Amino acid sequence: MKVAIIGTGYVGLPTGIGLAELGHHVTCIDQNETVIERLNAGNITLFEEGLEELFVKNKDKGRISFTTSMSTAIPDADVIIIAVGTPPDPLTQEADLNYIYTAVEELAQHLSGYTVIANKSTVPVGTGDEIEKRISLKNPSADFDIVSLPEFLREGFAVHDFFNPDRIIIGTNNDKAAQRIKELYAPFDGKTEFLFVSRRSSETIKYASNAFLAIKIHYINEIANFCEKSGADILEVAQGIGLDKRIGDKFLNPGPGYGGSCFPKDTHAMAHMGEKFGVSLNLINTAIKGNADRIKQMTDKITTSLSEVENPHIAVLGLAFKGGTDDCRASPAIAIVQELLNHKIEMTAYDPEATENAKQHLGSKITYAQDPYDALNQADAAVILTEWNEFRDLDLSRALQIMRGNKIIDLRNLLCPQKCAKAGIDYTCLGRPKNN
Ligand code: UGA
Repeated sequence: MKVAIIGTGYVGLPTGIGLAELGHHVTCIDQNETVIERLNAGNITLFEEGLEELFVKNKDKGRISFTTSMSTAIPDADVIIIAVGTPPDPLTQEADLNYIYTAVEELAQHLSGYTVIANKSTVPVGTGDEIEKRISLKNPSADFDIVSLPEFLREGFAVHDFFNPDRIIIGTNNDKAAQRIKELYAPFDGKTEFLFVSRRSSETIKYASNAFLAIKIHYINEIANFCEKSGADILEVAQGIGLDKRIGDKFLNPGPGYGGSCFPKDTHAMAHMGEKFGVSLNLINTAIKGNADRIKQMTDKITTSLSEVENPHIAVLGLAFKGGTDDCRASPAIAIVQELLNHKIEMTAYDPEATENAKQHLGSKITYAQDPYDALNQADAAVILTEWNEFRDLDLSRALQIMRGNKIIDLRNLLCPQKCAKAGIDYTCLGRPKNN
């Protein structure tokens, strides 16, 4: 099948490369000339485990190409996938649909023959109808259908998630369009659930999934706070509740709050849709507020633990919004560092992948290290903010030798309290009794 994908970001590029690996002929379109030049020159433009190998392989086989021009790829495409950003409006926090509408109005002019236009961008309910209207207005003779095709790829695991989807949601009432999308994902037939729903249900499934997961994280963070006071251990509690299949054991890790380009944006957008439709979405609003409060809670935890240290210097381990990605958008780690700067705390940070992106947010207000031990050198305390596996394997005695102090504040519960105690580290984590 011939596929055109508009947008080469964290959704578009892994999807395009994944579809090429399934055997389709894919053209990725992006208006950013630098990105397209780099991709054409064989340089991958984002970090995603396992993606580069697939990129090189499919490019060499001629199954994927890159262009800035819609007129080259759109007329031949059997399926067009829209995967452009829907960033939150800085004032209202509503999803900004400008990129989508600009893209569809441009592609409308190049449509030729029956084409299915599948939207993977996360959009408010009813956007599919609006896209349909705008294309028909621009090109009244165009023969097309609009399908909502939400994506559930996690950053850092996009390749794994692409090839092992829990479900493929196909949102359309048109059978011909639905069958074409099913054909696109034919290799998954029999292995993955295909769910055919209306376009509006599909658009809602995307938001309701992300909001549910955000609420789940907020919930486990609250239970971790409760454990800290009650003397229970959040690890045991999460395991105990997660064994109930109705609850499930995923997304029960407490942390400094959810971040990234999806949960914060999508919960806000869902809350706005609730207002628009006159429906109270109290749970979602509580999670939004709880997640914002979490930054201060975490900062207080750090500053309290350092209250007796004069002019503290902290080693910050992790800047990305989660492990496995270089993405710092809405990263709780960045927000906490910014709060700590208000407390005039000096910091040296290390992140295996995200330093360059973090510099866009923090500039030279902190210093950056080449490895964790470089960051720990002469630090009064270390704060773990991102769940990188590398930090799980920290050499504790080496850390202690080079640090000035002996405190580790682990906001991702990566280290073992007993091992820390044995190594002479004053260890603080989330929801676990000291020295358990
Ligand atoms: C999320 C969803 O998981 C994907 O299914 C979805 O496709 C994507 O949004 C999207 O809408 O595009 P992602 O933002 O990549 O994926 O990140 P997650 O792995 O879901 O993590 C989100 C945040 O929650 C991170 O800050 C992470 O550290 C935090 N988290 C996650 C926790 O604090 N605890 C957990 O147990 C799990």
